[in-house]
Amino acid sequence: MTDEAFDLPQVYVRHVFACFTQRPPGHPRGSCGAAGAQPLWDRLGRRVEAEGGGLIGFTPAGCLGFCSAGPLMVVYPEGVWYRPQSAADVDEIFDTHLKQGGLVERLAMILKR
Ligand code: FES
Repeated sequence: MTDEAFDLPQVYVRHVFACFTQRPPGHPRGSCGAAGAQPLWDRLGRRVEAEGGGLIGFTPAGCLGFCSAGPLMVVYPEGVWYRPQSAADVDEIFDTHLKQGGLVERLAMILKR
């Protein structure tokens, strides 16, 4: 393998992974889909496509492991987890974090160690 194989351009400035898991109603683990994720991710995807300028990635993900807290998404490279509940929340995350790099503290899951 040559050095050129690792000389890749940075594709995205920020990259969102959003949980698209949908479990049936009444499932003991719940799911982001059951918590209303789909319309939020539809909105986020539209904004990324229209306004992301190719610098923001949006990738559907499977279960992220904290199902009862959903809908969940994580933003890299910062590794910030968010749990938006409304279209306004999605817009705030897009405008503040994805476009400007700021933290939307009120919607972030703060992981205690
Ligand atoms: S179903 Fe979304 S985190 Fe598990």
